[in-house]
Amino acid sequence: MTTKITHYTSAFEKEVAQGLTSFPKSLSSKYFYDEKGDKLFQDIMAMPTYYLTDAEFEIFSTQKEEICNAFYGNQGFDLIELGAGDGKKTKILLNYFSEKGIDFTYLPIDISQNVLDGLKESVEREIPGVKIKPQQGTYFEVLEGLVNYNSRKKVIMVLGSNIGNLLHQKAIQFLANIQKGMNTDDVLFMGFDQKKNPQTILNAYNDPEGITAAFNKNILHRINRELEANFNVDQFLHWEVYDPESGTAKSYLVSKTEQEVHINKLQLNIHFSPWETIHTEISQKYDDDVVSWLAEEAGLKIINQYTDSNQYYKNYLFAKR
Ligand code: AVJ
Repeated sequence: MTTKITHYTSAFEKEVAQGLTSFPKSLSSKYFYDEKGDKLFQDIMAMPTYYLTDAEFEIFSTQKEEICNAFYGNQGFDLIELGAGDGKKTKILLNYFSEKGIDFTYLPIDISQNVLDGLKESVEREIPGVKIKPQQGTYFEVLEGLVNYNSRKKVIMVLGSNIGNLLHQKAIQFLANIQKGMNTDDVLFMGFDQKKNPQTILNAYNDPEGITAAFNKNILHRINRELEANFNVDQFLHWEVYDPESGTAKSYLVSKTEQEVHINKLQLNIHFSPWETIHTEISQKYDDDVVSWLAEEAGLKIINQYTDSNQYYKNYLFAKR
């Protein structure tokens, strides 16, 4: 007989145990991003069908002057970026600000110290003179600290439609948390992927090379390695659906056969019926009405918006209401 583990040594252990013993089964997409997952996401951003990155890059390249003017404060500003990643898009702005001799400090925030080290090195090498102060931590931890970070105008930036991984209620909580740390002059600049031809969206999350499939399945490899499990990853299928009514893209891993998986560190046996699913990610798509509603619920208002030539993607600028 085995006894059920009630004390977990990490949130990962706890959430995996809960997600795989629930019906229907689920795992959180936040666990996609280990070293291998970070690399696969880089590959996704380079795919021609993953239009989000190109669209946001186009917005930054063509509208940097307007964006820069919106960020500018009379004593300069602090640019705080949540989930900074490789900074490819942000560097367009950093370059522009530094060319104009604008006084600002760049505070990239990421959960991965590895990512931050690489970013600091490349920013200092490519854009000499930029003041960069990386902060390691979860969004939540860092947002707490932000409340006391008030020497001058703050610009908080969240790119890549990262908010799309959250259901609306969680997205509102996230926005409201940011709002709490903002003063009247501060702004929030955030990317929201837009509703569009459903086929375009499916193609972005279901590439023929199987990069997205590998990204989705990476969570099973991670569980195998970190929690001593024996998932036969080839016995799962990557499946993407998009509901054009709600604007929700959902990713699943589907069990191709009946199978049993043992997770040693959790003392769990997980049974899969043929074609049973594990829901792993949502990638929400938005329109102006939904973004306005989210903003309103969080005590924010939209003060400007920037879009690409296809209108696939928008960056909104918010202030406190
Ligand atoms: C990084 C969360 C914005 O949902 O589009 C890419 C992650 N998942 N392909 C997204 C992702 C599958 C991405 N975000």
